[in-house]
Amino acid sequence: MATGASIEAKGLTKVYGEGPSAYHALGPIDLDIAPGEFVSLIGPSGCGKSTTLLLVSGLEPQTAGTVAVDGKPLTAPISDVGIVFQDHLLLEFRTAMKNVMLQQEIRRLDRKRIEERAHTLFARLGLEGAEQRYPWQLSGGMRQRVSIARALVHDPSMLLMDEPFGALDAITRTQIRHDLEMLWLDTRKTVLFITHSIEEAVGLSDRVLVMSKGPGTIVDEIRIDLPRPRPAHLGEYPEFAAYAKRIYATFEKLGVYQFH
Ligand SMILES: Nc1ncnc2c1ncn2[C@@H]1O[C@H](COP(=O)(O)OP(=O)(O)O)[C@@H](O)[C@H]1O
Ligand SMILES: [Mg+2]
Repeated sequence: MATGASIEAKGLTKVYGEGPSAYHALGPIDLDIAPGEFVSLIGPSGCGKSTTLLLVSGLEPQTAGTVAVDGKPLTAPISDVGIVFQDHLLLEFRTAMKNVMLQQEIRRLDRKRIEERAHTLFARLGLEGAEQRYPWQLSGGMRQRVSIARALVHDPSMLLMDEPFGALDAITRTQIRHDLEMLWLDTRKTVLFITHSIEEAVGLSDRVLVMSKGPGTIVDEIRIDLPRPRPAHLGEYPEFAAYAKRIYATFEKLGVYQFH
């Protein structure tokens, strides 16, 4: 099984477009994510979170700075990665299993081995019985679970998640957060998790990076020192309130929130 990769970025900056329409969207930011670490990026809308994910996956070129995965500088999209977006992006005309097996087809991997992994992931993610259903026959939570299975079926060493639970209701989010944590505890993939949710960031992460308004820079870094697996109601830990307060305070100081 592939273990987690390290992710290192230095002076990472993105400017979209050129000339008078150039838009400075991100950075400069530095990242130093250890193999197997679970790191969240939290920040206001438009601060450059999705941009960060695109740069780290090599899907979008940076304007300045460097990204390296396992010490190797990125120059093209990497294949040793799984990505989950807020919108599940499943193909409506393929069953859940066939959506997951798309990875095997595109990457030309061994069918039997990937099918076995898919079945294991379906079981781990509470998706038994959903294999032959089409996306429109699944709830929002189930569709995101299928997306997670698809992102992990080829056993990548890192998982990039862009507000994956953003469209789900609070109860579903809490359950899927726990299920993702259990899966991560088992596999120790390196995870870069993007979220708006303080609860999600603190509930899942080893470390939370707090971003400023755009162009986003990292303005605070919080190591989350809570035992795992973490409970549904994080309020059980007095430390949780302290972490949440620190993030709110940073956002208030930066003018993300204006409470009077
Ligand atoms: N392809 C693009 N061309 C021009 N501007 C973009 C592009 N993608 C994103 N942006 C702009 O860059 C900023 C950061 O975007 P994004 O990374 O999506 O933010 P976030 O995910 O934090 O909400 C936003 O102002 C957005 O409008
Ligand atoms: Mg985004």
